[in-house]
Amino acid sequence: MYNNNPTLENIPKKVDETKQGEVFFKEGEAAPTKKFYIESYGCQMNFSDSEIVASILQESGYGPTRNIEESDLILINTCSIREKAEDTVRKRLRIFDKVKAKRPGTLVGVLGCMAERLKAKFLDEEKLVDMVVGPDAYRDLPKLIASADEGHKGVNVFLSREETYADISPLRLDSNGVSAFISITRGCNNMCSFCVVPYTRGRERSRNSFSIVAEAVDLYNRGYKEVTLLGQNVDSYTWENPETKEKVSFAQLLVMVAEVHPDLRVRFSTSHPKDINDEVLFAIRDYENICNYIHLPVQSGNSRILEKMNRTYDREWYIQKIDRIHELLPDCAISSDIITGFCSETEEEHKDTLSMIEYANYTMSYMFFYSERPGTLAAKKYEDDIPLAVKKRRLVEIVDAQRDASMASNLKDSNKTFKVLIEGDSKRSDQDFKGRNSQNKMIIFPKKDGLKKGDYVHVKVTNMTSATLLGEIVDNKEA
Ligand code: SAH
Ligand code: SF4
Ligand code: F3S
Repeated sequence: MYNNNPTLENIPKKVDETKQGEVFFKEGEAAPTKKFYIESYGCQMNFSDSEIVASILQESGYGPTRNIEESDLILINTCSIREKAEDTVRKRLRIFDKVKAKRPGTLVGVLGCMAERLKAKFLDEEKLVDMVVGPDAYRDLPKLIASADEGHKGVNVFLSREETYADISPLRLDSNGVSAFISITRGCNNMCSFCVVPYTRGRERSRNSFSIVAEAVDLYNRGYKEVTLLGQNVDSYTWENPETKEKVSFAQLLVMVAEVHPDLRVRFSTSHPKDINDEVLFAIRDYENICNYIHLPVQSGNSRILEKMNRTYDREWYIQKIDRIHELLPDCAISSDIITGFCSETEEEHKDTLSMIEYANYTMSYMFFYSERPGTLAAKKYEDDIPLAVKKRRLVEIVDAQRDASMASNLKDSNKTFKVLIEGDSKRSDQDFKGRNSQNKMIIFPKKDGLKKGDYVHVKVTNMTSATLLGEIVDNKEA
């Protein structure tokens, strides 16, 4: 029903310079009568889902606002991955309580993974919440809002085996107009023992390949230069064409999107080490616009812990994967997710994770200490027995090791020239641009006349920190 979304062309443009983003509408277009405010937490998937929610709401007459004080509907798209993520949401709900007290009639909705995990309990625990909507139930939002308006609180946390929102054109929120996310799978069929995602997001399903390519084409036509294909485990993407019965694999999908246009960069996240295969690596090698960057979370560098985590690979197997990537794609950057202090982890086992950071040469990692999640296999089977102080100390050691690895990797880039996609002004100075190279490293460099966000330039690296490269524009690749 949103297939030919007539509002696609009328996407409200936000004013970058103002924090309280005003929303503008095309001349002659009636502003929506009601406004929604949405905050997103958690992974990129959640941010991408919020754009689907925004599109559904716009269809039913709600326009986005960044000013919570003027909103008729406040939505919070929540994450359950760690206890801290849930605490943050509860704190935000206290703030919304105050807004609601000033503006009676404002509705508050909880979306996403915490909604799915806590279901109707949310309504008892948090009195101000008017609706609780799980990740597969967003099409039901207009109905739930209408009944909440009449004073009936509502819950829909039905998890679907089919829903991919394939036909909905996301309304790009907070976009820089250059990069966008495209969701390609939903849910997860893995059962990592620490992880709540299979319970909050349900079974894995893959979205129609043609709708993915159509979204990429539409984005390119609107000036976007980079898409990131999103899923909890993108490499297990598989879609069967109902007419021809032909199956599209992730590697084939990558190629289909890469062929939209050579100037449209393609990224993807997250790759599971057990599922990424040579075909994917060949696609990266053969297409210049498929970025040389793989996010390949290891979680732990120790085989016994990996087994307890139910990751289905061991240290040696992971190392072989890293070796293969380096062999086929010498310029490919690899990043990771790491958990410290998982149940029964010893000092020796922790050291295996430290050494893995060095071995894999990660350009960066997302690092966490283990947080037990109710209902997961680990919560049922293993004791969360590593004291918090030890988990935190190990985390500091991991962070330090990663900082050293990032610095070493950045030092190797000294004097190299990279093709960079300009994403906009650097945070520190409007005299500088920021952009990324294929390896997903951020580079800051002085502006030059005639260049703008969305352009590609060649930048030679002249200096660096562990987090950022600094450089200057050069005329051509070889300079
Ligand atoms: N699908 C991705 C990541 C999903 S969640 C993957 O398989 O890698 C993002 C990251 O959060 C995970 O990679 C993991 O490092 C971390 N994480 C998940 N559950 C956690 C928990 N219970 N405690 C601490 N970190 C956790
Ligand atoms: Fe969680 Fe594992 Fe699935 Fe990633 S692959 S979402 S860590 S269960
Ligand atoms: Fe969090 Fe759900 Fe993503 S738990 S990490 S928002 S899938």
